[in-house]
Amino acid sequence: MANAAEGGPLRVGMVGVGERGSYHLDLLLGMDSVEIKALCDIDDGFLYRAKKWVQDTGKPAPALYSRSKTDYLRLCDRDDLDLVVTATPWQYHAPVCIAAMQAGKHAATEVPAALTVDECWELVETSEKTGKHCTMLEQANYSPDVMTVLNMSQQGIFGDLLHASGGYVHDLRLVKFDPEREPWRLQHSIDRNGNNYPTHPMGPIAWWLGINRGDQFEYLVSMSTKARCLNDYAAHFFGDRHPYASMRMACGDVNTTLLRTAGGRTVTLHHDTNTPHPQTAEMRLQGTRGLYAGNIRKLYLEGRSPTAHEWQPLAEYEKEYQHPLWKRFDEEKFRTSRGHGGGATTPLLWRRLLEALRAGRAPDQNVYDAVTWSVISPLTEKSVAAKSRPVDFPDFTRGKWKSTPPISFA
Ligand SMILES: NC(=O)c1ccc[n+]([C@@H]2O[C@H](COP(=O)([O-])OP(=O)(O)OC[C@H]3O[C@@H](n4cnc5c(N)ncnc54)[C@H](O)[C@@H]3O)[C@@H](O)[C@H]2O)c1
Repeated sequence: MANAAEGGPLRVGMVGVGERGSYHLDLLLGMDSVEIKALCDIDDGFLYRAKKWVQDTGKPAPALYSRSKTDYLRLCDRDDLDLVVTATPWQYHAPVCIAAMQAGKHAATEVPAALTVDECWELVETSEKTGKHCTMLEQANYSPDVMTVLNMSQQGIFGDLLHASGGYVHDLRLVKFDPEREPWRLQHSIDRNGNNYPTHPMGPIAWWLGINRGDQFEYLVSMSTKARCLNDYAAHFFGDRHPYASMRMACGDVNTTLLRTAGGRTVTLHHDTNTPHPQTAEMRLQGTRGLYAGNIRKLYLEGRSPTAHEWQPLAEYEKEYQHPLWKRFDEEKFRTSRGHGGGATTPLLWRRLLEALRAGRAPDQNVYDAVTWSVISPLTEKSVAAKSRPVDFPDFTRGKWKSTPPISFA
């Protein structure tokens, strides 16, 4: 049967169909010319629920893989797949993507793409050697505000860009202690001290600043606070004697990282998943002519904002600068098979990805993006462990960032 690049349906195998993976499955089931051929999960409950969802849409039952934690290898070896999608716990992302590409399939992974510098290089080298794409499913890049600001900055509205900041500020204490939801996430807080979830803010910032497309990160420094909040939370809800009330948690409650680019720009990143804090869209882009502040959805442009030193709502610029991708995107056409919520940014991501694979071109988020945004975790761990000493950033593009044009959306 013809594969997707030859005009046939896109044939997909999915590894990990828990919370997030089942959302992706639901989206894919609502899309034309996508066939779910195989599913893999070590939890039979999730696996058979996903199988039923496929059959509920009237499509043939997918093949199932659940023999062991490495049964994704058998799925990757099938000869009827174009794309393998992984939404497992973090430690399997790079191994699944590498196995998929080695078996001749494109790979799409949930965030982050990798946990170590070596894994990042292996993803790049495998993609280059096999000619298969490895993309990360970072939907934050497609949010309407992020894309409007990208459009404005690419038109020079903010002047020469100087600084960006962003944060993953999301109180995940309940999730970390709930064995029914992401039972794997707490262990990263126990073991690793740094910014262990950087890609939601990093993805948009990297596109805004043209990272890997004209600019490149040179080094970072990172610092963590002490870790108090998880112990306090456990003591409060489970009692003082519960092991989590006194267990040593490696990850500081608030991690702050500073990065500097070859082009003389700086970025501040925050990671804060343990403190009591409403979720915040902590995003900012600043240039020589003004700035955008995502937490208040406002901007200020010198010489253009009507009142000096006063913020203006971003909405006042939306008509003129809404990104062409959003103008073309018809949310109504994007219904999941089961009416899953979650906004339109992930559907737009999938539409872009499927279009790219069908057209035989690289996805918007290429393998260099995936590893550049993900490698921040191990680099911050290294800096934090060394009293915040600077850590050099690997150049995964091997110099190609200098001649790669700014991102565009054909
Ligand atoms: N982009 C986003 O906004 C977003 C939101 C939530 C989660 N995520 C990411 O999605 C991923 C999954 O998160 P989740 O919330 O769905 O977690 P989850 O625990 O609900 O789902 C993970 C699934 O993977 C399965 N699994 C574990 N090990 C496996 C293996 N070796 N082989 C096959 N299946 C295996 C589990 O049984 C489970 O069904 C994580 O990387 C997380 O960071 C991203």
